[in-house]
Amino acid sequence: MRIFKDEAKLSLEYVPPVLPHREGELRLLNAFFSSLLRGKQAISVRVVISGSAGTGKTAMAKLFGRQMEAEAKSRRMNLRYIHINCRVNRTLFTILKRVVEHLKIPLPSRGYSTEELMHGLLDYIVENDLYVILALDDVEVLIKEEGSSPFYFLTRIGEEREDRMSRLSFIFIVRNPEILSMLENGVRVGMLDNVVHLPEYDAEQLYNILSYRVSEAFFDNVVLEESIRLIADLASERGDARYAIETLWRSGKYAEADESSVVTPEHVRKAAASIYPAIKKESLAYLSLHEKLILLAITRALALGEKAYTTSSELNELYRLVCEEYGVQPKAYTRFWEYLQKLEDQGIIRIKVSSEGIRGRRSYITLPEVPVSILQHELVRLLEGESKEP
Ligand SMILES: Nc1ncnc2c1ncn2[C@@H]1O[C@H](COP(=O)(O)OP(=O)(O)O)[C@@H](O)[C@H]1O
Ligand SMILES: [Mg+2]
Repeated sequence: MRIFKDEAKLSLEYVPPVLPHREGELRLLNAFFSSLLRGKQAISVRVVISGSAGTGKTAMAKLFGRQMEAEAKSRRMNLRYIHINCRVNRTLFTILKRVVEHLKIPLPSRGYSTEELMHGLLDYIVENDLYVILALDDVEVLIKEEGSSPFYFLTRIGEEREDRMSRLSFIFIVRNPEILSMLENGVRVGMLDNVVHLPEYDAEQLYNILSYRVSEAFFDNVVLEESIRLIADLASERGDARYAIETLWRSGKYAEADESSVVTPEHVRKAAASIYPAIKKESLAYLSLHEKLILLAITRALALGEKAYTTSSELNELYRLVCEEYGVQPKAYTRFWEYLQKLEDQGIIRIKVSSEGIRGRRSYITLPEVPVSILQHELVRLLEGESKEP
């Protein structure tokens, strides 16, 4: 049973041809660079892309670069986009070496100083009528390693060689733009004028992003609607598309291992648990009796593996049944609700209040990080031990 149509579409290196919910940000980025394409009186453009992990900074920059190269080509302009990750290339010197390699500039790789590399690069750019956009990703690493000096160097060279420098533009990619305001004064000026900030994705946006990636990577009707919803909800706590796509991919792997023809919410729970194992056996033992009984009721409600959520009223009924089974007097509804909230505070369950207006507002309960089957097994074992105690 094959479920993946093209698994590579979920790899981290893959850059999708469209990025849903980033249309506005991409337009803004283009606007900042529009003067470059007009080409008449080129100036060095500097733009900052900011946003927390998994908001699409890297993907958007690379997609922009690809589109920019194509657009320039259609205008018979020689423009190259170069994307460099500062986590991999941690100093200005290694960054410049990467650029030189990328452009295949015939410079000897030894015995060169940073200045010589930079001048060699600028000379080559001018001689070949080239424009370069250099994107420095995870630039906080470079700041941590070398402080303000690389930025100082890049902009000062620009002052000395205005003509050449105008052909070299920059995109600086950071999580938090505040780190750039820690740079020395002379460098900082003007740097934060052009910022494209990427806000975290909400559940609805993640759902759309996932649906699109599902259609690229899986055969039709393989990933259940409920499973996509569940991944979107789990990832919306962080607003993180990388976490969402990683969970999607792993869910597919668990489905494959089960020889299942569909990806169910239970596969999603397994995948999520394998990424961030939240509930440890030891911490279950410390739960109170009624917390354990409620948790067991939740696993019963979700047990079929086809359900991502249960409602609080449905759960209360199951809880009363479980109490009966173990010969325990059930708690009143308000106490039951209190226990639910305690379980949520400990990160064991998630309670989601739907926003269908105040009257229609309902609570949905789910187990985000752990497969039902494992949890159920463990709870039954603990509860049996408990009831045997005098
Ligand atoms: N709007 C989007 N549409 C489709 N995929 C997206 C979108 N935003 C992010 N992704 C995907 O999510 C993952 C993380 O994005 P990435 O650009 O690496 O985030 P960041 O660099 O901000 O940490 C990548 O696989 C990327 O392709
Ligand atoms: Mg990134």
